[in-house]
Amino acid sequence: MDRNEMKTLLKAQQGELDAVLMYNALADKVRDAQDAETFRRLAAEEGRHAAVFRNLTGRTLRPKKTLAVLVPVLYRLIGRKRLYPVIARFEYAAAKTYEPVTAVFPEAQSVKDDEKRHGDAVTALLQ
Ligand SMILES: [Fe+2]
Repeated sequence: MDRNEMKTLLKAQQGELDAVLMYNALADKVRDAQDAETFRRLAAEEGRHAAVFRNLTGRTLRPKKTLAVLVPVLYRLIGRKRLYPVIARFEYAAAKTYEPVTAVFPEAQSVKDDEKRHGDAVTALLQ
């Protein structure tokens, strides 16, 4: 693995760890029980993703709380109808970001597929 690949994987690993905290914090905050259940499931899956990247990098990272603080505040300020599409867009963007990663690290394929599903799952909460 070259230096750039390592950098990409560490960034991915950090993003997944941060997403675990973010989804759990959001699950704590949302009023709708189905939303909460979905976000807990996504948090667990992001945790699995972080483990996939940890196995590739061999590094243990600390989750950052920034999104876990910000996103519940946004939920309160702008509401689920405006927030969830933003979250879905982030998930679809992650799927796209992981596309070139899967070419080099096939382990990331299921992670990429999950992010697309996450985007769909968050979108479906509003339907
Ligand atoms: Fe993920």
